[in-house]
Amino acid sequence: MGSKVLVTSALPYANGPIHFGHVVGAYLPADVYVRTRRMMGHQVLYICGTDEHGVTIVQNAEKAGMNPQAFVDKWHEEIKKTFDGFGIEFDIFSGTSAGRNPFHAPLSREFFLKLHGNGYITDRTVKQLYCGSCKRFLADRYVEGTCPRCGAPGARGDECPSCGAWVDPLELKEPRCKQCGAAPVVKETRHWFLDLPRLAEEKIKEWFHSKAGEWKPNVLTFVENMLSDLKDRPITRDLDWGVPVPLEEAEGKVLYVWFDAPIGYISATMQLFQARGEPEAWKNWWKDPECELIHFIGKDNIPFHVVVFPSMLYGVKDGYILPANVPANEFYNLEGKKFSTSMGWYIPLDLFFREFPTDAARYALIQSAPETKDSDFTWKGFQTRVNNDLADNLGNLAARVLRFVERYQEGKIPGPQAPPSEREKELLALRGKKVEEFTRAVLEYKFRRAATVLMELSREGNRIFDDGKPWVTRKTDPNKTATTLWTCCETLRTLAFLCAPLMPATGRKIWEMLGLEGSPEKEGFSKAGEEVFRGGGGTVRPSILFQKIPDETVQAQQKALVQRLQEARGLEPFAPPVTFEEFTRLDMRVGEVLSARKHPKADKLLVLDVDLGLERRTIVTGIAEHYDPKELAGRKVIVLANLPYRKFRGIESQGMVLASTTTDGGVQLLGVDPGAPPGARVS
Ligand code: MF3
Ligand code: ZN
Repeated sequence: MGSKVLVTSALPYANGPIHFGHVVGAYLPADVYVRTRRMMGHQVLYICGTDEHGVTIVQNAEKAGMNPQAFVDKWHEEIKKTFDGFGIEFDIFSGTSAGRNPFHAPLSREFFLKLHGNGYITDRTVKQLYCGSCKRFLADRYVEGTCPRCGAPGARGDECPSCGAWVDPLELKEPRCKQCGAAPVVKETRHWFLDLPRLAEEKIKEWFHSKAGEWKPNVLTFVENMLSDLKDRPITRDLDWGVPVPLEEAEGKVLYVWFDAPIGYISATMQLFQARGEPEAWKNWWKDPECELIHFIGKDNIPFHVVVFPSMLYGVKDGYILPANVPANEFYNLEGKKFSTSMGWYIPLDLFFREFPTDAARYALIQSAPETKDSDFTWKGFQTRVNNDLADNLGNLAARVLRFVERYQEGKIPGPQAPPSEREKELLALRGKKVEEFTRAVLEYKFRRAATVLMELSREGNRIFDDGKPWVTRKTDPNKTATTLWTCCETLRTLAFLCAPLMPATGRKIWEMLGLEGSPEKEGFSKAGEEVFRGGGGTVRPSILFQKIPDETVQAQQKALVQRLQEARGLEPFAPPVTFEEFTRLDMRVGEVLSARKHPKADKLLVLDVDLGLERRTIVTGIAEHYDPKELAGRKVIVLANLPYRKFRGIESQGMVLASTTTDGGVQLLGVDPGAPPGARVS
């Protein structure tokens, strides 16, 4: 490991809000990593921004009635706010649109032209679906039709959700434009392809295999499979939002969003150093072989960061470094289901941060991060982490030790006044070891482990306080009391260092509570294991680090989650419970419709003549817009038979037929299996 590191986090699409899943996958671990290496005294640069091109953004901007630049500007700001909420600090948070970063398009053109000049880009004419009414070529997932393999409807131009087959959009039966529903035509268009197979043979395979022992196994397996079946990939699109392809014969075409987006890491670095008045200094990072380049991403971004972007960096033959590591995370779910803002399964982060502190979120997310397999955010898990680890372990140590100092030592940290016990000596020595363990875990991208190391040290601190029983020794052996308190305060100081990368505000708070000047960030790790209070310390300022989360809060949050789901899906909430006795008072029967006719005085009503076995009843029902009276004769329905009779526009209804309804106005009659005789009780 060197001492210069260039860290990037995947550029989020400026296309909607980001959620815990994104944050825990590519941003929070990177932020912890960056802060840790800074405290190790390394030179670190942390780059991010928004990914602002591509057809999805164009279409969503259209739906929102905005031009693409205004649309991405809006989401850029929103996303930035979310990162601020998590305390994630980049050296620059830029973006790829011309409006945000003037370096981006020129650099993207340069990449294209150099790759082209070096023979890694070739062009050919391909057939593609074109929507005449939308006047555009249809991206694969914007075509829908019948799957050519399994015949299921609703297959998209990239895959069939029924059989999972990879579908060639030209083979879809009865294709439709997803946007407008029109039937597209096949049209020829010219595209430019990046020759990944050749780049892989020349460089990427050999380079990738040199990382075998070092990288995360999930990344290695994924890429190994990908490399065994590489094809050249089109890197241009027929679109008018993006970086124009810098060739005369490519008019009206832009670079594919995945081609220009990773170049955004470099163009953002250029922008940063331009602002710092050193316009050439970006090269000291991107072109210095001693600099480690590390991409933090989620697993869906692996192909682009391990194969495509390195191929580009190598293929321009311009002295760019290749990534030293790509620590990709797996997926993070919410209470067992995929996060989805549009489906209503999400936590609004502005509300979240109104109620919970940043550091609690950072700690709980890191402790449940999907480092080796998919994992979940659960409210219960969040509560457990905050209450058990942050409040009862770390917060408790700080509070009890410093309050004791405040009350019985006149507020000043005492130096040792008796030789430390064996266990106290062990704890004093353990601090340095835990700092080492912490940094090693972070360097190996084991952030959960790092967070646990912090808690282990804190637990030892609590144990020493318990064993030392200062509340007893203060009367029997005050010198010993001083030594115990001193040991605990040295431990708290070390904990402030370990907190700093994970929970920066908490690290600083402990620091201030100990009456120290400066901050753990400024001091760095090198002195974290030292003893600084031997001659006594300053005045302590005890306060509460973390509030516990009560059960009621967890229940309210779980309820709110379900409520958002209901709203998004148009479903009614469940009614309050009834007793079984109450349920049996409803007399529901199988009925056979003998005939049906329109209500003479109301368009929405039908009048049914229904055989209920024991009686024939007339029933008025509001399904005229959904059912044709002729279709209903002979059909078995379910009737609620013991409601009071009631007149509808002059006709008495002697019961109610049951149907399901949705808030969008859909109605579906309840039926019963054919054997059920009219009059049979439903229960
Ligand atoms: N916008 C992409 C996503 O969210 C990530 C782009 S990373 C970059 O999946 F390297 F291309 F910028
Ligand atoms: Zn269309």
